[in-house]
Amino acid sequence: MNECLCGWRKVAKLREMSKAATPSPKDSGENSGNKFKRFSPLESSLGVLAFFFAAILFVACFFSLDFNAKTTILDLDFSSSSSAATSASASASASVHFLTQQGDTCDVFNGNWVWDETYPLYHSANCSFMDQGFRCSENRRPDTFYTKWRWQPKDCNLPRFDARKMLEKLRDKRLVFVGDSIGRNQWESLLCMLSSAIADKTRVYEVNGSPITKHTGFLAFKFEDFNCTIEYYRSPYLVVQGRPPVGAPDGVRMTLRVDHMDWISHKWRDADVLVLNAGHWWNNEKTVKMGCYFQIGEEVKMNMTTEDAFRKSMETVVDWIANEVNTNKTYVLFRTYAPVHFRGGDWNTGGGCHLETLPDLGTLPAVSDAHFTTIIDVLSERTNKSNVLNLDLLNVTQMSMRRKDGHASIYYLGPDSTASMQRQDCSHWCLPGVPDSWNEMLYALLLKREDLYDRRRNTTEVSQVPL
Ligand SMILES: *[C@@H]1O[C@H](CO)[C@@H](O)[C@H](O)[C@H]1NC(C)=O
Ligand SMILES: *[C@@H]1O[C@H](CO)[C@@H](O)[C@H](O)[C@H]1NC(C)=O
Ligand SMILES: *[C@@H]1O[C@H](CO)[C@@H](O)[C@H](O)[C@H]1NC(C)=O
Ligand SMILES: *[C@@H]1O[C@H](CO)[C@@H](O)[C@H](O)[C@H]1NC(C)=O
Ligand SMILES: *[C@@H]1O[C@H](CO)[C@@H](O)[C@H](O)[C@H]1NC(C)=O
Ligand SMILES: *[C@@H]1O[C@H](CO)[C@@H](O)[C@H](O)[C@H]1NC(C)=O
Ligand SMILES: *[C@@H]1O[C@H](CO)[C@@H](O)[C@H](O)[C@H]1NC(C)=O
Repeated sequence: MNECLCGWRKVAKLREMSKAATPSPKDSGENSGNKFKRFSPLESSLGVLAFFFAAILFVACFFSLDFNAKTTILDLDFSSSSSAATSASASASASVHFLTQQGDTCDVFNGNWVWDETYPLYHSANCSFMDQGFRCSENRRPDTFYTKWRWQPKDCNLPRFDARKMLEKLRDKRLVFVGDSIGRNQWESLLCMLSSAIADKTRVYEVNGSPITKHTGFLAFKFEDFNCTIEYYRSPYLVVQGRPPVGAPDGVRMTLRVDHMDWISHKWRDADVLVLNAGHWWNNEKTVKMGCYFQIGEEVKMNMTTEDAFRKSMETVVDWIANEVNTNKTYVLFRTYAPVHFRGGDWNTGGGCHLETLPDLGTLPAVSDAHFTTIIDVLSERTNKSNVLNLDLLNVTQMSMRRKDGHASIYYLGPDSTASMQRQDCSHWCLPGVPDSWNEMLYALLLKREDLYDRRRNTTEVSQVPL
């Protein structure tokens, strides 16, 4: 599997590009080393000068390290293991910026959380585009540490989120989130992040005047000054859910047609940026136990397991992207499964995450989540077959796994009541919080894509429209 950040085809493209641009590259990781070798013919004459330069660089490094440590990175080593400390100090010395060519091979999803006093990026009290359920602090969650963590990739630095810049990139465009309520969680996070740059909040509104409070269907918020909309379509399975075919066996109340994309997918197809997600509804409780079985063609597959059905639906989604989406226009991202953190039970059997106030900064076991693995499998199979798939992953599973402290727990009912300990919410995320970081990645990937496009335009023929 690839070690690069943004996905599938892109990795190969990146490799090609870095080959074209650097005369003697071997592996991306060695690039920085190789660069100095190019000076070797002049070595003798420039030796003294080089030494002088190196000395200056060395001193400069120290200054920048010091600067970083003081201004942005406060290394809180909560874990007994040393890995948090190593990764934080690695991050402090990472001078590679993601948006440069040296950053091309950086896996931005590999890293750790670092304490950052400049966070959060906004306050929920100042953002009206948010469901009550995500307003943890306003719902009397007492600790606020969970708003203070910034994601730091191991091998490069991300650009600082700039709402105005993102809106500028999105001028005259549609950015669409499709998926379950975790997708909604991320969508509302982005609304708050972006609207923090708009002084006059009446210039941000739902195009049909609908309130943001929980409701099904879709919502589209327009940022009038930028003629851009940030939209959310609820489609927890991404494929069609509906009545069973005639003659279906008894007990089949509904079916998920795992070979058929959701009917309303035509509404998202032409978005400029499309962020898909699925996973949380693909379990027995929400499907087979409710009498909702899986259907392929006209046939109800009574024995199909949820995981097989999920795989089939992911194949449908990926094929839909390849065949129905104009990937010259639409930048498609798939956000991987966001882990839940119920300990001592499940969501409906008294499991909880209450009083979790710190992330897990130590070493984590490799991701064993079935939904995550399924998506990765399907993508690797499909990208072998098709070169045209222009899809990036928001590979958030691992980074979010560390954030057991980020959930609403009992603080989702509003300022006047707290939920029972038996009914904690350890799947949705407090805002500000973890989904803000997913959106910072989204921001970084959008900028990166444009940068790659510029570079490609300068070297080879244009094949993809920038954002
Ligand atoms: C996703 O991120 C994790 C953590 O960095 C990494 O181990 C994994 O290889 C990544 N997967 C993909 C497909 O990029
Ligand atoms: C809301 O924003 C204003 C400035 O725009 C700031 O002074 C105020 O503290 C913010 N309120 C909260 C609750 O963050
Ligand atoms: C606003 O953006 C849409 C595309 O989303 C475009 O068709 C329309 O012409 C734009 N309107 C203005 C006034 O630029
Ligand atoms: C489904 O499973 C049942 C019991 O395990 C078995 O009797 C039946 O033949 C299976 N049906 C199909 C279509 O595989
Ligand atoms: C995909 O490609 C890899 C190597 O490029 C190969 O090992 C694998 O068998 C291929 N898978 C399929 C399904 O063709
Ligand atoms: C591409 O070329 C243009 C003009 O030739 C230049 O201004 C721009 O900086 C180049 N972009 C990159 C990424 O090299
Ligand atoms: C996308 O762009 C390529 C190269 O410019 C072109 O060959 C292809 O037909 C375009 N595809 C669509 C669906 O417009």
